[in-house]
Amino acid sequence: MANNELSFVHRFEPSTVPNLAPLLLLHGTGGDENDLLGLGRMVAPGAALLSPRGKVLEGGMPRFFRRLAEGVFDEDDVRARVDELADFIAEARAAYGLPAPVALGFSNGANIAAAMLLRRPEALAGAVLLRAMVPFKVPPKADASGRRVLLLSGSADPIVPADNAARLAAQLSEAGAEVTHRVLPVGHGLSQADVNLARQWLGEAGVIAA
Ligand code: MLT
Repeated sequence: MANNELSFVHRFEPSTVPNLAPLLLLHGTGGDENDLLGLGRMVAPGAALLSPRGKVLEGGMPRFFRRLAEGVFDEDDVRARVDELADFIAEARAAYGLPAPVALGFSNGANIAAAMLLRRPEALAGAVLLRAMVPFKVPPKADASGRRVLLLSGSADPIVPADNAARLAAQLSEAGAEVTHRVLPVGHGLSQADVNLARQWLGEAGVIAA
């Protein structure tokens, strides 16, 4: 059941396996806190799952920040929403006794996770970004060193141009993150290859808490 007690409506599933970093699940436009629970269980079996619902509504569809048009973001709102979500992460860590989470975000959820890595990197231990794009025209100066990031893009994605995804990978690397960028022969939607690669990468690199 959704929990309304913290600053975001969210779902939380405790871990069933010790020493795994929790996953912060960030849904796409029109999704909610239930959307990515199944994906989270598939890619990180036994990890705690923290899944907030985006607070911005676009025609009734939840999102994590405002946009002016598809792919054109209200960057003031992106900054404010990153801070608000980082505060929620701190709140949830205290409430549930969690280490810093690894974000698993899709589309708009991947975009806010990318923005968080560039503005509030301390909030995350790392991230799996599924179909993310550049959130800031000029990235803020932040130190994301120590953060591992898996960026999975689609070569036929009509929403995220290939050069945009490559620019995001470069910006994250410049901020110090250790970025693995794979371009899959798919569109904006998720594929089995995303699930397999995310699971493998999290097993190798991402979820074991220090
Ligand atoms: C966004 O607005 O974050 C991107 O255009 C992805 C989307 O939500 O469609």
